[in-house]
Amino acid sequence: MAHPFQAEVEGLRPNPYSINPLILDRWSPRSMMGEEIQTQELMALFEAARWAPSSYNNQPWRFLYARKNTPAWPLFFDLMIDFNKGWVKNAGAIVLIISANNFEKNGKPSRTHSFDTGAAWMGMALEGSSRGLVVHGMEGFDYDKAKVSLSIPDDYQVEALVAVGKRAPAEALPDELRKKEAPSPRKALNEFVFEGKFGR
Ligand SMILES: Cc1cc2nc3c(=O)[nH]c(=O)nc-3n(C[C@H](O)[C@H](O)[C@H](O)COP(=O)(O)O)c2cc1C
Repeated sequence: MAHPFQAEVEGLRPNPYSINPLILDRWSPRSMMGEEIQTQELMALFEAARWAPSSYNNQPWRFLYARKNTPAWPLFFDLMIDFNKGWVKNAGAIVLIISANNFEKNGKPSRTHSFDTGAAWMGMALEGSSRGLVVHGMEGFDYDKAKVSLSIPDDYQVEALVAVGKRAPAEALPDELRKKEAPSPRKALNEFVFEGKFGR
């Protein structure tokens, strides 16, 4: 089955090595319907995150979420900068991703907890976009306030917020955001892949 975002991505993102459309066609739209999202649908995204690899299979990722029109929603919504509030108001859920600084089995610091949690977030993003949902990561929020408002223990690091929702046409966005509502390009491989020593 074709990826639901395929038509928008075609022509904007070349695919010289024929990679899986699941990866190529994921992008981060902002335009959403303002509809609620079913818990079932949200759980499918966390299930996709669940299967990420992690150092020693420590699974350091934790997800806190709020669905629209629930008491938890303002706790999450109020963390964001105004720019993000402007479009996330139409999301169906807001997810906060945090990760455990230490290994569960021995309490020793984990070097890779953020790396592992990043892999889990990608699972969530891929699953969501393949279902036609908006899954849009954000760092535009108050990280310190998140720790306090959501009672996050000191041995967890706040990583990112994610807006999840049903897509709406770009026309539903205000002018400035509408112009940005398109799949973005990437650096060329030779800018970030080096055989042997680090290159420039
Ligand atoms: C950790 C993270 C933080 C981000 N922060 C924001 C943000 O605060 N606001 C926003 O509108 N987009 C944010 N983005 C979206 C990125 O700008 C977007 O993923 C990037 O431009 C690549 O575009 P694509 O995801 O559509 O391929 C963030 C993405 C990630 C992964």
